[in-house]
Amino acid sequence: MTTKPTLLIPRKLADAVLDRARDSYDVILNADDHVLTRDELIAACQNVDAVLPCHSEHFSADVIAALPDRLRIIANHSVGVDHVDLPAAKARGIVVTNTPDVLSDATAEIAMLCMLGAARRGSEGDRMVREGRWNFWSPSFMVGRQVTGRRFGVLGMGRVGQITADRARGFGMEIHYHNRSRLSPDKEKGAVFHDTIDSLLAVSDVLSLHCPASADTTGLINARTLALLPERAILVNTARGALVDEDALVAALTSGRLFAAGLDVFRTEPGGNTALAQLDNVFMLPHIGSATFETRDAMGFRALDNLDSFFAGAAPLDRLV
Ligand code: DGY
Repeated sequence: MTTKPTLLIPRKLADAVLDRARDSYDVILNADDHVLTRDELIAACQNVDAVLPCHSEHFSADVIAALPDRLRIIANHSVGVDHVDLPAAKARGIVVTNTPDVLSDATAEIAMLCMLGAARRGSEGDRMVREGRWNFWSPSFMVGRQVTGRRFGVLGMGRVGQITADRARGFGMEIHYHNRSRLSPDKEKGAVFHDTIDSLLAVSDVLSLHCPASADTTGLINARTLALLPERAILVNTARGALVDEDALVAALTSGRLFAAGLDVFRTEPGGNTALAQLDNVFMLPHIGSATFETRDAMGFRALDNLDSFFAGAAPLDRLV
């Protein structure tokens, strides 16, 4: 009988995913699903061949240095991999994979929720009704911004950006985008390409962020770039909190220069930003872009597909390093 590779799964995944994992691996679970501390993560990795983490497990360079030689693959249950030091993993010969594509629809849905929640004052209205403060109506009551016919700017036209643009088209919005490289006409679908970020920002009534967090993109949305947006624009962020200078965002929202923001991600997670939480013109969610039953199953299966290929001696489909 051949021995199965040992796989650490540090967070609770869907039952269907765990059942499939157990078919091919000796699975070690983190029984109570708490976020492992750095030391706990290192300790839990000591006797395993592979790990299937989420973005809550931080594989910084020092954690990677402390991994055992037998651990050969980090198969992430996420598309974003800013929680893994890729150069450090590469230097140690550890393969890293992610789960692209399968969460694009779910994340695009949340981007639309954030856009509409911000434009139509979703948080403010919800709280007013729940708290029994809805005792008034007039034609000027709770008036928001209509998105139909407005310009929807996509910063980062990868898979999620493209599907989000499709959804925004459904609202009759005109699509503009900036991406490292221009898309082919079949993917562009008439969207207007901007070869600089500044040019995109200058026309975006709604700006939706879809780029990965990296040294190049940290703080990309800051006091200078927010000032480029049209008056009373709306910012949507379903990518990573690190892209935005949150102090500058608070200032732009407080002054009214920005009409509203719809945010699913924050610099500090979990928890968010208390200054943003004070503002009525912020619609906020707790990083749930990919949180649908269908997508969480698909992410788990995709991570297992990557592991299965690796242990079968083939190249994992989503290998990053
Ligand atoms: C991702 O996959 O990157 C999502 O943000 C959830 O982790």
